[in-house]
Amino acid sequence: MTDGSELHSLIRLLADGEVHSGTQLGQSLGVSRAAIWKRISTLGNLGLKVHRVRTQGYHLGDSIELLDAGRILMALGQGHDDGRLIILDSVDSTNQRALVLVNSGQCANGTAVLAEHQTLGRGRRGRSWVSPFGSNLYCSIIWRFDKGVGALSGLSLVVGIAVARALQRKFDASVMLKWPNDIVIGDRKLGGILVEIDGDLAGPVTTIIGVGLNVNMREEQGAGITQPWTDLGSIKGEQVSRNLLAGAIIASCRQLIAEFVGSSFAAYRSEWNSLNALKGKSVNVETGGEQLVAVAGDVDADGALLVATDTEVRRIIGGEVSVRRVE
Ligand code: BTN
Repeated sequence: MTDGSELHSLIRLLADGEVHSGTQLGQSLGVSRAAIWKRISTLGNLGLKVHRVRTQGYHLGDSIELLDAGRILMALGQGHDDGRLIILDSVDSTNQRALVLVNSGQCANGTAVLAEHQTLGRGRRGRSWVSPFGSNLYCSIIWRFDKGVGALSGLSLVVGIAVARALQRKFDASVMLKWPNDIVIGDRKLGGILVEIDGDLAGPVTTIIGVGLNVNMREEQGAGITQPWTDLGSIKGEQVSRNLLAGAIIASCRQLIAEFVGSSFAAYRSEWNSLNALKGKSVNVETGGEQLVAVAGDVDADGALLVATDTEVRRIIGGEVSVRRVE
């Protein structure tokens, strides 16, 4: 059986996007050409497409910038590793791994878990999150809140602001937020946020704040996504550095979450509303088993979405809101 680390050594050799012969790859890894061929044939399971050039060898088509702790720390503005950055090759879900770390009592507040690939990436409402190797950002940040779950109202919306700020400031990308947690450009999804909570809901809780952003994802890698999507590389017209992006997102999230701890969502409400992608749109709302047709408005001081039906204004605190298509 081929284990993960062998596959990842092969990916590291191919990451430059150049053609490598089977002989050269085999020599570098100390295995036969046949073993290389076998490993290459399994890279598709990670969402990677390897091209074969007759008589010359193999290449990935595009180069991949692998996650690199040194480059992320530089982007974070940290001269040294404070032990709060964990980079993994492949994992079930960075949120799940973060939860395991929390339960083993091993990590400091603000620890960020990143991975090149997720086998069971989680999205909202039990959906899966498409997570091919080396293409996107999969990041989970651990944060403890002393005050219990009541103080978390609006946390995931604040994280949306943190992501939007980082994308605007460091990548000149203007994104909008689709309540509650989608990061969108136009009507296409660029990313999402999944906040999971661990602990006694009445007492101090630990949150796992998962951020997934599509960065340099090829069409075929996103074929399993069931809604219109885009990636930052397509928006910018060039490959985007995942290390710079990771640093920018982690720094912005840590800063805003730390500020949020000492205040409440009300302080962020107007900024969130200025990024509100749904405002004024005719929407379908599915909340607590009820279906509504309404027009979306702003969010209130608790982060609930206000929607106007024909007869009343409703506060939506959970569920799914989708833009109604004009027939
Ligand atoms: C959504 O459905 O929009 C939320 C998607 C959140 C995906 C991220 S990727 C990093 C972290 N780990 C996961 O398994 N999910 C979140």
